[in-house]
Amino acid sequence: MKKQWWHDKICYQIYPKSFCDTTGSGIGDINGITEHLDYLRNLGVDIIWLSPCYPSPMADQGYDISDYRNIHPDFGTLEDFDRLVAEAKKRDMGIIMDLVVNHCSDEHPYFKEAMAHPDGKYGEYFYIEEGVDGKEPNNWRSYFGGSAWEKIPGTKNKYYLHMFHKKQPDINWENPAVREEIYDMVNFWFDRGVVGFRIDAIINIKKPHPLRGCNYPADREDGMASCAKMTEDAVGIGDFLQELKDRCFAPHQAFTVGEVCGQKEEDTIAYVGEDGYFSSMFDFEINSEEAKDGFEWMNKHFITPDMYRRAMERTQKRMEPIGFISTVLENHDLPRISSRILREADRTDTAKKLLCVLYLYQKGIPFIYQGQELGMDNTWFDDVDMMQDVSSQDEYRVCREAGLSHEEAMQVVNRFSRANTRTPFQWDDSVNGGFTTGTPWLPVNPNYKNINAAEEVANPDSVYHFYQKAIALRKDPRFAETFVYGVFGLVSQEYDNVIVYERADEKQRLVIACNMQQAEVTLDMEVGEVLLSNYGEAHPTSGRLTLRGFEAVVFRA
Ligand code: GLC
Repeated sequence: MKKQWWHDKICYQIYPKSFCDTTGSGIGDINGITEHLDYLRNLGVDIIWLSPCYPSPMADQGYDISDYRNIHPDFGTLEDFDRLVAEAKKRDMGIIMDLVVNHCSDEHPYFKEAMAHPDGKYGEYFYIEEGVDGKEPNNWRSYFGGSAWEKIPGTKNKYYLHMFHKKQPDINWENPAVREEIYDMVNFWFDRGVVGFRIDAIINIKKPHPLRGCNYPADREDGMASCAKMTEDAVGIGDFLQELKDRCFAPHQAFTVGEVCGQKEEDTIAYVGEDGYFSSMFDFEINSEEAKDGFEWMNKHFITPDMYRRAMERTQKRMEPIGFISTVLENHDLPRISSRILREADRTDTAKKLLCVLYLYQKGIPFIYQGQELGMDNTWFDDVDMMQDVSSQDEYRVCREAGLSHEEAMQVVNRFSRANTRTPFQWDDSVNGGFTTGTPWLPVNPNYKNINAAEEVANPDSVYHFYQKAIALRKDPRFAETFVYGVFGLVSQEYDNVIVYERADEKQRLVIACNMQQAEVTLDMEVGEVLLSNYGEAHPTSGRLTLRGFEAVVFRA
């Protein structure tokens, strides 16, 4: 595969609203990011992905954009943004923005115009259809619950489509004028110096036509079918994505990572192969394992080492001949990883360091989500409204409708809520974890006294320093080529709760061994030159490989 500038990079996702507030508003801002660039550079970060920071009514926390060419006043100004890009560049880091173009906000001027004149020019910027027999045009359920269609006020029988919240109307990509506007907007950000984009919910931009009457068998008692079903029938998304690449990404040699889920298997190469639409896409395989009995939160499973190994192997094997996946443990849509994969008693710093080793050396481009490098944990909300998350509200409703009590529903929603990763970043042990001098928009996790950046930067044994060391090893010139391009292989599957894989090329074999349990285990395998262990002290470098409880070791075989 042709080498690209992004292949050996480490990425870091920032959720601007919760990163650092420099004004006392209770909301994080762009200047708060600029202030902490050295913190990120010292960690080893090369590329920073900003979740949306555009003007937005925040119905879906910024994934509902009302102005694509500006910065939300709560976050700062375009000048602040330019300064962030310039300061990042000085430190040899690049900024990528979140490209949310399946839908916009219902407060976008074009949508307002479309609602005022559904038959006018801007009506064609969205999907507007006549209802059928006094009901919605079809039976799709939106990702956030309820019908994917909303009646247009003042009309007899017209509806608009929203795959997500009703305040997120879908944009009509079939309309060439719409596509031109999008390409222009994307290039506007390239002109401001961004090095690429993370591309939101992109699989949804192509719909089957006609939409009206496109019904699927009901998958719940509400008589509706998940709108995700339509992606199986939508044909031709590649034409849109190729055009987007040709007009925007390719001329800028951009790094782009797609939030692609549910694509047809045979299309993966078109998405992220050597000449793919995108540079990479996220690895969500473990999410499918977790949701093997349904994506409703109440049906999700706890992730066992066995599930993780299976998912990892599937992804790595599938991607080997194709290209680079982006590996993740956390993002703004998931709870903290410790709650998904570690039993409560096992949530120690040692185990959190093991998780770092487990994913960092797989083939791909690692993404760290803010606070993951500190080992931040889930929190607890007494009330679902406090979470300020449309998805949590919907899942609470689903639980209650299935007969769960309020307490039971709160257990489920607290475990999986997206608000868990959206709580403010814990900078130090001062009030509000040093995130704000005002009232934080979302409560700070009370454990900030123990888990915070200041303490961890000062403590050489912290999770933070371990991430730093692990990243430095990945970039060490003696091993970098192997970690970036070496072939992935599972070394052993015989031991319960133990995951061992290797990265190999003609030069060397690097083995990554993780014991995901309290019990010590001795494997039928020789250890070699140990490059990293999550136990502070040195690991023996000869004899059979023994791993202590939750020990992770990287060695050269
Ligand atoms: C993506 C985002 C998520 C958002 C949704 C709609 O899945 O990651 O946060 O709610 O798209 O934009």
